Amino acid sequence: MKKYVILISGRGSNMQALIDARLPGVCSAVISNRPDAEGLAWAAARGVPTCVVDHKAFASRDDFDAALAAEIERRGADLVLLAGFMRVLTEPFVRCFEGRLVNIHPSLLPAFPGLHTHEAALQTGVRVHGCTVHFVTPALDCGPIIVQAAVPVLAGDTADTLAARVLAQEHMVYPRAARGILEERCRLEGGRVIWTHDTTPAAAALRVPADE
Ligand code: GRF
Repeated sequence: MKKYVILISGRGSNMQALIDARLPGVCSAVISNRPDAEGLAWAAARGVPTCVVDHKAFASRDDFDAALAAEIERRGADLVLLAGFMRVLTEPFVRCFEGRLVNIHPSLLPAFPGLHTHEAALQTGVRVHGCTVHFVTPALDCGPIIVQAAVPVLAGDTADTLAARVLAQEHMVYPRAARGILEERCRLEGGRVIWTHDTTPAAAALRVPADE
């Protein structure tokens, strides 16, 4: 059975969705860069091994990334899922895990990379917002896209109401993407994502909920 690890920094609701999805693989660890990440207790209570690689304990970003990579390799991970992991990873780390390193971002990339995506969506007036699961490349929030989910931006939305609508979709599409990779129906080839053996490619790639 394939093994995957989940990297978190905080509450870990995407981690919960991934673990609850009973993916075809073993979660060999939930790793946090913060000892106080709320998600750690949830994972431990379900018998998932947890561990902390505290970025504050390292003199440089390179040292931290090297320790993190060693911990991931020690867990035998075929797939590394970033789920609210709030550290920018160095190029050597990203190259080391190329094709098996995946992130979820709360916008329809390439719109709104970086932080504060919901505020930016409201500020610019887009009518459609959403989330993206993508393979990680050295450039931040730029990697090849695996799945996206779209939600409407409604009159009267605040960053919080919009974030909640997007988050519900994150919890749907991240397990879908992870399942595709673990079942080898989805892979990175020549810098593009290839889905195979998928009878519903449109549904796998884009989820548009009905108007609310
Ligand atoms: C999510 O919105 C995710 O897309 C972003 O950070 C947030 C993490 O939330 N990268 P959680 O820790 O998974 O609840």
